[in-house]
Amino acid sequence: MADTWQMVMDHAVAVARKAGQVVCEALSHDRSVMTKSSAVDLVTQTDQKVEQLIIQSVKEKFPTHRFIGEESVAAGDTCILTEDPTWIIDPIDGTTNFVHSFPFIAVSIGFTVNRQVEFGVVYSCLEDKMFTARRGKGAFCNGEPLQVSEQTDVHQSIIATEFGSSRDPEAVDRIFCSLRNILGLPVHGVRGAGTAAINMCMVASGCVEAYYEIGIHIWDVAAGSLIVSEAGGVLMDIDGGDMDLMSRRIVAANNKKIAERIVKEISAFSPPRDDSPPPK
Ligand code: IPD
Repeated sequence: MADTWQMVMDHAVAVARKAGQVVCEALSHDRSVMTKSSAVDLVTQTDQKVEQLIIQSVKEKFPTHRFIGEESVAAGDTCILTEDPTWIIDPIDGTTNFVHSFPFIAVSIGFTVNRQVEFGVVYSCLEDKMFTARRGKGAFCNGEPLQVSEQTDVHQSIIATEFGSSRDPEAVDRIFCSLRNILGLPVHGVRGAGTAAINMCMVASGCVEAYYEIGIHIWDVAAGSLIVSEAGGVLMDIDGGDMDLMSRRIVAANNKKIAERIVKEISAFSPPRDDSPPPK
């Protein structure tokens, strides 16, 4: 089976590059901004077009594979992870960045078999950086091996996070409480690229020590999670337990010590899971 998944991954890299070109070309002229779950959860025609481009190209080559795609789920598809080979697609991670031409945008493709991520591909298209990882075989950026930071002292660290797209007052209060705790440790700095996938690739690259967020979705983090772990990092739930791709909560860090320190400072909450049934 090993070679089969390598062939599938090669296709994912090729289609992510093609998708990234379409995204970059659309950057200056797609003005079709629409909203989804809230007034700040944005989607454009390019998100929808690029997701279809990826799905069609995969269907032609691998007709039995399943899909979980951000825009297909928004359009009503179920978000259930089975044991079957499944492509988990975010056509534009960083849609708000795309809308504002803020220069971090990624195409993110994770691939699972037996509910385990087998490979991850994150193409940061404006930087032309292709991040890849295959389970058990390391993580790479444009073919160069990635390694997380060796820092073990949280006070000497940069932590990445995001404010997400919920403006529910209680969630916002908790986000600020966590941020205040982390800034006050103190840490060297807090950053956010505006895309979960690129934040995770920054952990894998060693330029930030950790990334955490509550409110992300499986398509934001499926690929990045393998890129972090294959670069030597760790993944946890916000409460310190095992990461669950459907839970919408994640801590990704260079090591367990930093991850556990971050967990202590987070004011946790639980948005509805990605695999929870839609409200009636
Ligand atoms: C969003 C980005 C953002 C994160 C949000 C995600 P999208 O993904 O990753 O950084 O804060 O939680 O939903 O909507 O641009 O694909």
